[in-house]
Amino acid sequence: MKKIIKNGIIVTATDTFNADLLIDNGIICQIGTNLSEQGADVIDAKGCYLFPGGVDPHTHLEMPFGGTVTKDDFETGTIAAAFGGTTTIIDFCLTNKGEPLKDAIKTWHAKSNGRAVVDYGFHLMIGEVNEAVLNELPSVIEKEGITSFKVFMAYKNVLQADDETLFKTLIAAKDLGALVMVHAENGDVIDYLVKKALEGGKTEPIYHALTRPQVIEGEATARAATFTGLANSQLYVVHVTCADAAKAIADARNRGIEVWGETCPQYLVLDQTYLERPNFEGAKYVWSPPLREKWNQDALWSALKTGTLQTIGSDQCSFDFNGQKDLGKGDFSKIPNGGPMIEDRLSILFSEGVKKGRISLNQFVDITSTRAAKLFGLYPKKGTITVGVDADIVIFDPTVERTISAETHHMAVDYNAFEGMKVTGEPISVLSRGEFVVQDKKFVGTVGAGQYLKRAKYGKNYETVEDKTLSM
Ligand code: URP
Ligand code: ZN
Ligand code: ZN
Ligand code: ZN
Repeated sequence: MKKIIKNGIIVTATDTFNADLLIDNGIICQIGTNLSEQGADVIDAKGCYLFPGGVDPHTHLEMPFGGTVTKDDFETGTIAAAFGGTTTIIDFCLTNKGEPLKDAIKTWHAKSNGRAVVDYGFHLMIGEVNEAVLNELPSVIEKEGITSFKVFMAYKNVLQADDETLFKTLIAAKDLGALVMVHAENGDVIDYLVKKALEGGKTEPIYHALTRPQVIEGEATARAATFTGLANSQLYVVHVTCADAAKAIADARNRGIEVWGETCPQYLVLDQTYLERPNFEGAKYVWSPPLREKWNQDALWSALKTGTLQTIGSDQCSFDFNGQKDLGKGDFSKIPNGGPMIEDRLSILFSEGVKKGRISLNQFVDITSTRAAKLFGLYPKKGTITVGVDADIVIFDPTVERTISAETHHMAVDYNAFEGMKVTGEPISVLSRGEFVVQDKKFVGTVGAGQYLKRAKYGKNYETVEDKTLSM
């Protein structure tokens, strides 16, 4: 069935213009003024922006972590994503040392297959590099279309990899055409500081932040960037929280090293004082790297504006306050790390960024959608509005005012980290490949309609994947 969206203002990473948009068979097939209706369903988007569906490059759905499993799974997580205007997510597939990579990937397919309501891909965690891993990586890229590898420089004795592993991953990725992602904090130093704090009876949530100072995020970021230059490879730093890390990225980029940076809504609007909230409420804001002193927010906004940071991921990793976060009562190091962010990523960036004049409307689209699609091999199928690509469209009313709250959110988790925050602008309807997932703020999607995305190699357009499929 054809659909025509009329009277909207189309916004891409480069242009803003009034046009109608004809969708057929899930694809945008015509853009123009006064398009004839041709028997299509007509959707009136008067007064609304039409954005390409958001691409969230950083989610953890149904992930075992901190002795429990994240509350939102691929069903609830992608429904919440859709309400927030995100139509593509890339989730982190964890691996275990000694386990074949293909088994880990199979586990992640089992969690997501038949559950997601929007399209999704996977990044693959690399915890060790040995002959078995190196032998498997080509098929991870060619068969699974997983073209980004994640190395954790923190979470000692759990997820952390050593420098040798990171360096070898960078070399392999360069040869194979993958982008290496890092969680950049110095896990060894943190481990020591945590032990010292607990020995001194410092057990409250705030010590989570105080034992992970921002200088060691800056240090790890600079170290990863240095290795990237040495390997002549490419790096994407996830969840940049502070001025020190942003500066490390800017310095590396100035030296000609290919380093990209992501921040998250939480670091742009919340700060370290949230962890000091009484009655253990600070635990709601425990994630890594931690929230920082407020002055860092200006540095992050400025880094987004000037292009030192290019994307915004949610780092969705939700745990209930009651029953999950309380695993860390009496010992902050046992509070499961993570927060619920998948739903409010676009709203916060629009309201705090565009509305407050910190970034332009086109930058907003680039940061929330286009750039991630390009970096992670999904462009132009995802990440833009043009003829011939997936009709992933957000109909966004820039004037609606609302208050973010767990009472009204769609995540499965029992609190919202942005509770009480007033935002302007909201997705009204959201389409994934031409089908409504959210229509007039109601869920009308289909559980399992989300498709797994095989992504193109780093630096290549999505067509490469299709071409390959056709020639096989
Ligand atoms: O605390 C967080 N961010 N949890 C998710 C895992 C990670 O480090 O991204
Ligand atoms: Zn049709
Ligand atoms: Zn991380
Ligand atoms: Zn994460």
